[in-house]
Parts: sequence; C-alpha cells; structure tokens
Amino acid sequence: MKRIDDILQHEEFKRQLGIIIEAERTRCFCNHDLEHLMDVARIAWIINLEEGIGLDQELIYATALLHDIGKGRQYAEGIAHEIAGGEIAPQILADCGFSEDEIFRIKRAILSHRDPAVKNDKNLRGVIYRADKASRPCFICKTSKECNWPEEKKNNHVIY
Ligand SMILES: [Fe+2]
Ligand SMILES: [Fe+2]
Repeated sequence: MKRIDDILQHEEFKRQLGIIIEAERTRCFCNHDLEHLMDVARIAWIINLEEGIGLDQELIYATALLHDIGKGRQYAEGIAHEIAGGEIAPQILADCGFSEDEIFRIKRAILSHRDPAVKNDKNLRGVIYRADKASRPCFICKTSKECNWPEEKKNNHVIY
C-alpha cells in the first residue's frame, strides 16, 4: 500500500501525531497513537470483508490513519477533532496521491466518525465508525471503572 506508506512518512502527519502523543503522555484513558490508528484500520478492513462491503483497502487505511489527526488542535484550541481533522487531512491526502473524489469520501468519513447516525451504514463512514468504537480494549483496561463510556458501550468481550 504505497500511498499508506507515504502518509506514515508525511511530515505533517508525523508532526501532528507527535503533538498528540506528547499531549497524551500522562493520560490514563484511551490514547490516539499509531497503535489505535492501526487497530481501527485493521478492524475496519475485517468488517469490510465480513460484511462484503467491497471498499478499497487504501481508502480504509487512509481514513483510519487520519480520523483522529485533529486531536492535537482539539487539545490546543478546543475545536472538535473531527472538524480539525477534516481541515488537516485533505492536504496530506493530496500530497500522497489521493484523487479529489477519494479525498471527499475520506474527509466525509473523518467528519462523521463520532456521529451515531452513520453507525449502521454499509459504507466507509459506517465501517470507520464501528471500527473506531470496536478498537478500544475495555476487556483489559485498568481504568475502565473511571471511564466515561456508558457500560453498554464498552467492549467487555473480545470480538476483533
Ligand atoms: Fe476520534
Ligand atoms: Fe479514534
């Protein structure tokens, strides 16, 4: 996946991810590091295969890698990270060779990744939403009791 390798090496991607990792250094709850991004990518790919949705693999991985890229601006400026991510991602994607149509679809999925309205959609938006939620390993979490996720939302059993 050449274009995914390019995102991982992109200067702005690395800079933003560095800001997020630094800001979350003492955070005891779920982080938004590369491990989370890859978990989302792989789970989204599994869901796509299981449900026979037929999405392109690079489209899924690019969206997963960039869905939380606005977190640094959320910490610094208070702007919602899906909005900030929707502003940061397009240039990175264009630099890595994604088409206008692909960038439109990825940006739309980033903007809706916290919107329960897309939860059951059989498309990129729904797959990313579900993978993001399914990626959190509540079943081995030490701070699960203090977490603000409602009990019914927590992943208390291994699915992926
Ligand atoms: Fe997020
Ligand atoms: Fe996320």
